Amino acid sequence: MKLDIKVVQDNMKNKFIPEIKYFDSVTSTNELALKMEDNLVKEGLVIVAGEQTKGRGRLQRNWHSPKNEGLWMSIILLPEQKNKDKYALLTLIGALSVQKAIKDLDINSTLKWPNDILYENKKLCGVLSQFKSVGGSIGRVVVGIGLNVNQDKFNDEIKDSSISLKMIKNEKINKEKLLVKILDNFSNYYNMFKNEKFNIITERWKKEMGMLHQNIIVNSLDKEKYKGKVIDITENGELKVQLDSGENKTFIAGDVSIDKNSLKL
Ligand code: BTN
Repeated sequence: MKLDIKVVQDNMKNKFIPEIKYFDSVTSTNELALKMEDNLVKEGLVIVAGEQTKGRGRLQRNWHSPKNEGLWMSIILLPEQKNKDKYALLTLIGALSVQKAIKDLDINSTLKWPNDILYENKKLCGVLSQFKSVGGSIGRVVVGIGLNVNQDKFNDEIKDSSISLKMIKNEKINKEKLLVKILDNFSNYYNMFKNEKFNIITERWKKEMGMLHQNIIVNSLDKEKYKGKVIDITENGELKVQLDSGENKTFIAGDVSIDKNSLKL
């Protein structure tokens, strides 16, 4: 069913979100949020779509966004550029906000650095943050959230790696209630960010992250493969790994997987 945006607006308690713009169909809510003229942009503006015809994922992947089956949205933020080295935390905040909202449905998920929410190793939600460089002291960050809500099935390409809330609960999920909760949580976490309480965000992430102290392989942006053990999330939201060589290395981006070979040892 189509999202009833009026119900969402009527139930929003927090003052942080000035407006929610709903579109039946867009290419990508992130694309729209990035292209929007500066004079139309307000901090906390949310763009939600019924479907995305060109939904984007990380690492140039597509994000499958079928009509009315998920929450496909972007939150526009205007954070101070002086905290630019902390912008990666905004992706972590997106995932924490969704995870907290689905906990209220009694769903225990885990976070996978830097942007996934997994349930039994299948993907429930992905976050894609994109930055627009603007002059002056304020930046534009678009936090895009894709949450699989009411799908009954996925296409062949992703069916083994994806799951929806409906598949977990065996019942249709109320998207309006869920969206209100996610935005409330987001506004609380973003307040922490603005008040520079970065360590609360990273500590919470570490608590919910499935990979802490596990042996992993990181395929980094420089196309190198690194093996080691996850030891921390830094104040900038990077993944800190103790490499098998003994040296510590931090990653700001990359694809992480559990090192199955080392589990067998
Ligand atoms: C990923 O896991 O790779 C990130 C997926 C992010 C998908 C969301 S859906 C709303 C927003 N608009 C997009 O085009 N992508 C994000």
